[in-house]
Amino acid sequence: MAAPRIAVTGRIPDAGFELLHEAGDVVAWDSLDVPTVNEVHEMVAGAEAVLTLLTTKVDDAFLDAAGPQLKVVANVAVGYNNIDVAACARRGVVCTNTPGVLTEATADIAMALVLMSTRRLGEGERVIRSNTPWQWGMFYMLGSGIQGRRLGIVGMGDIGQALARRARAFGMTIAYSNRKPVAPSIETELGAEFMSMDELLTTSDVVSINCPYSPTTHHLISSRELGMMKSSAHLVNTARGPIVDEAALVEALRTGEIAGAGLDVFEAEPTVHPGLLECENAVLVPHLGSATVETRSAMARLAAHNAVNVLNGVEPPTPIPVPAI
Ligand code: GLV
Repeated sequence: MAAPRIAVTGRIPDAGFELLHEAGDVVAWDSLDVPTVNEVHEMVAGAEAVLTLLTTKVDDAFLDAAGPQLKVVANVAVGYNNIDVAACARRGVVCTNTPGVLTEATADIAMALVLMSTRRLGEGERVIRSNTPWQWGMFYMLGSGIQGRRLGIVGMGDIGQALARRARAFGMTIAYSNRKPVAPSIETELGAEFMSMDELLTTSDVVSINCPYSPTTHHLISSRELGMMKSSAHLVNTARGPIVDEAALVEALRTGEIAGAGLDVFEAEPTVHPGLLECENAVLVPHLGSATVETRSAMARLAAHNAVNVLNGVEPPTPIPVPAI
């Protein structure tokens, strides 16, 4: 029997290839540029397994281009809003993602953004880099302390919980909003209080978005929600850009409706709303949540493990739940 064709639609760390080369004939996109849709479709034609990056759109056109022999789409990311999971399920294609291995790295970036936003570190860096004259001063560039302040976590999955642990170590108290409460033992460990979104928004000093993106969470944070937040509060988003209505956020930052924002993700990545670039009170970083050498290797390894298991007829370690179809 011919070895299965395995396509990889973006550059991934070498660690991912060890398993793949043993399992089949690998064709991998070999550039740091994102391939065009046509380039992806050419690459996946005839593949039984495809490893995708979050910049790869997996829809009916992709599945048509791949062909009926396709067995698995293994996303090298925890978020999978780039994949039409229902369309895959209709064709019997298994989808997998990489939860767990990027939890700590992403929580680190979320905590970093909490600190950067509340302590005005982006603004401070820009002063020095632009050669703007400055002088230590009793009242110069004061931020707000986070000790004893409330962090409201929207989406208490693995990353939300890892952020809560970090924030507790910094002296913050934790509130969260989620589809359902987490186990009482976790609530106790994190000292976390479950509450409605509205209560969380009105009472938190920092609101952090840690939920997945789906049609239900599209613009979950828009003018109404920003209007409910304290004028001294900060918003942090390390999940997916379109969860926040970026135009409404620009307005809220401009008018002082909220004090600041720390964003790792954007609505139309890699484009950033031009209004955000003008907001001194916005800290903007280019989707670096899982960007450590160790984490990216672990993600590639896990995605390869998922793909190879499906090719071998074995349950993959981290399948994406199949939606009802
Ligand atoms: C990164 O954003 C991921 O979903 O893995």
